[in-house]
Amino acid sequence: MISCKKSYLNLPKKDLFEEVIRRTNAYKKAHPEAEVIKLGVGDVTRPLPLIVVEAVKKAMDEQATEEGFKGYGPYEGYAFLREAISKEYEEKGLSVASDEIFINDGIKEDSGNIPELFNYETVALCDPVYPAYVDCNALEGKLGEFDFEKGAWKKVVYLPCIQENGFVPPVPSSKVDLIYLCFPNNPTGAMLSKEELQKFVDYALENDALILYDGAYEAYVEDEYPHSIYECEGAKKCAIELRSLSKDAGFTGLRLGYTVMPHELKIDGVEVQALWRRRLEAKYNGAPYITQKGALARFSKEGKKEVKALISYYKENARLVSEGLKEAGFEVYGGVHSPYVWIRIPHEMTSWDFFDYLLNELQIVGTPGSGFGPSGEGYFRLTAFGSRENVLKAIKRLKEWKKK
Ligand SMILES: Cc1ncc(COP(=O)(O)O)c(C=O)c1O
Repeated sequence: MISCKKSYLNLPKKDLFEEVIRRTNAYKKAHPEAEVIKLGVGDVTRPLPLIVVEAVKKAMDEQATEEGFKGYGPYEGYAFLREAISKEYEEKGLSVASDEIFINDGIKEDSGNIPELFNYETVALCDPVYPAYVDCNALEGKLGEFDFEKGAWKKVVYLPCIQENGFVPPVPSSKVDLIYLCFPNNPTGAMLSKEELQKFVDYALENDALILYDGAYEAYVEDEYPHSIYECEGAKKCAIELRSLSKDAGFTGLRLGYTVMPHELKIDGVEVQALWRRRLEAKYNGAPYITQKGALARFSKEGKKEVKALISYYKENARLVSEGLKEAGFEVYGGVHSPYVWIRIPHEMTSWDFFDYLLNELQIVGTPGSGFGPSGEGYFRLTAFGSRENVLKAIKRLKEWKKK
């Protein structure tokens, strides 16, 4: 008899961002005249780089010709794109071969699917962090029960990233199998130095643990900080790196990312990438050709220039939000290596209460810190992905409110 997996039935009903959207829409329905400024869900708002759009159009036109038509492509992505990405690593002084790169339709799926390859008992993650890691492990029943009082999963080893430790997670003090690291961190905007990151690599090597390093915001990293976990010694033996074009070149709708699995990464003597290839053959038919052509254009000289301008736009927004909030008297973090600004909630309110308060009083939408993990309670995330106009309006409203 078929039945539903208990782990699916027991998952908290709504995902964080669904709940943010639900409450926002309910408010808008009740107050159709209100001008609501959305700095909540981390989606980009600027158009795609022109060179990407042109490349996608051209690739689409090729599909209309007999010579240019492409059907199924390689599971791991076209060589032209993997080679271009390999060259990007090379320019940063790192050696990542094109056959260590796997193209995907964005990294959310891989961050959830890669653990399917392994038997493991304990998962450690930064707290707070991007909630997809917890959700996908919870779906597989890896996290025990959810403690509603603490807002925490019983079997997770939470690595608190809080003001007291400069938002730098401690290396696990017990033995764990799988470690999710996300730097620049979503939501705190914090970054690890190379020395801090090396401690995690050393831990993983000593404890036979695997690191999933999510570098979705790599393009925002200021130069003196590590752009890749492979800058750390030994990382190729214990870490998988995920990168996305979503917050980099605006591909949240177009969809494209990539995962690096080095040959040196072996578990039980087996190359992890061999298992991953086998899984791809069984479950995936490759990212679209036209998207991969768009991604290739992103790595061209002109593409890089356009992406740099996009990132500068969002970074300037982040700076304005940070400065504006500081002037208004808020305790503010992040916003330098990241499009996220992390604020301490000024009153004795839960982060969901503060969400409702800001929506109702100032018509500003942010994201409650508790949605990213138990240590996120008491904090609130604002994104820099809005338009400049909306960012300035939001700051003005917050400053006026603080004056009252
Ligand atoms: C840390 C992090 N990883 C991954 C993703 C998802 O990336 P993609 O659009 O490539 O699936 C996000 C999206 O917000 C994110 O914040």
